Amino acid sequence: MYSKEPILEIKNVNKNFYVQKGRGVQALRDINLDLYPSECLGIVGETGSGKSTIARIITNVDTPSSGEIYYRGEKITDVKKQQLRKNHLNIQMIFQNPKSTFHPRMRMQEAIAEPFINYGIIKKKEAMKAAVGLLESIGLPQIYAKKYPHELSGGELQRIAIARAISVKPKIVICDEATCALDVSIQQQIAELLMKLKEENHMSYIFIGHDLAFVKKVSHRIAIMYMGEIVEIIESKKLISHSQHPYTRSLLESILPVKSRRKNDIKILKGFMTEDLNIGDGCRFYSRCERAENICRLKKTRLTKVDELHYCACHVKNYEELQIKNVVGGDSYEKASGN
Ligand SMILES: Nc1ncnc2c1ncn2[C@@H]1O[C@H](COP(=O)(O)OP(=O)(O)OP(=O)(O)O)[C@@H](O)[C@H]1O
Ligand SMILES: [Mg+2]
Repeated sequence: MYSKEPILEIKNVNKNFYVQKGRGVQALRDINLDLYPSECLGIVGETGSGKSTIARIITNVDTPSSGEIYYRGEKITDVKKQQLRKNHLNIQMIFQNPKSTFHPRMRMQEAIAEPFINYGIIKKKEAMKAAVGLLESIGLPQIYAKKYPHELSGGELQRIAIARAISVKPKIVICDEATCALDVSIQQQIAELLMKLKEENHMSYIFIGHDLAFVKKVSHRIAIMYMGEIVEIIESKKLISHSQHPYTRSLLESILPVKSRRKNDIKILKGFMTEDLNIGDGCRFYSRCERAENICRLKKTRLTKVDELHYCACHVKNYEELQIKNVVGGDSYEKASGN
């Protein structure tokens, strides 16, 4: 999977929101991230860390303040309307609350058929037939074709939202908290459905969520975000044993059973993420970090290669790691991923 070219490249993306005259929020700072074919990439981070902003920029709902995004080597940010339409076909999104996604007077068959018709892929009659076929692939009987949104449960509606998103055969599906409104058993069913569809349709996923344990289970790699920055990227299977960033470790502390915790590990995270995202150049985790040193307050961190597919943005951790390996310097994520 990782030997192929990335299907999506996010390069140096920054996003500032201007709230009041002269006052802004830097919601994303220097985001560099690649998605590989057939990969499921998780993005986790606490509320307000910028996860949905990344999703909105990838799907062109928002524009970046600077930086670019490439789909199969072609730039998809700052492009003309016609190109945007093409991008929408390739990259689809599934949202947290399926209830707000559907028109209350639209039957499920029409809802699933809508993208086929809107994009002019097939005629209405065929689209309605194809919609019934898609119901089967998401494990719902044909009788659901004639139902209205209020007649379905949250889990069933989310299945319909998935059918609608995959109907146009996208190459990338972004699930923004797509399962977090559902109860745990339904969450599991939806995750299994998404994985089945991924295999059948050769898609890549970006799976956004708060729940580190759940995202870890469904993703190959995880990017951990804190206040608009990616602080660590690591393979899911190495998350517990090899992750380094104090923020990642504190997230893990909250989900790990006591006996599997690493020795001398960081304690449960105290305090809150500050609401002021304009806090200068230093590490944004500085005020909550038990290992912080003076350099952390002053100097911007950047993702540095720790190992194959593992990057961490921490002065203290990177310094320790470099000393262990006796290496001077170290590859930054931008360099190693060709950005
Ligand atoms: N349109 C906007 N105008 C001003 N600020 C915004 C806007 N959209 C997002 N923000 C700010 O950008 C930051 C990131 O928001 P975002 O919605 O991406 O966070 P998130 O990680 O998805 O959070 P959650 O887990 O709650 O969904 C937040 O501080 C938010 O207040
Ligand atoms: Mg969000």
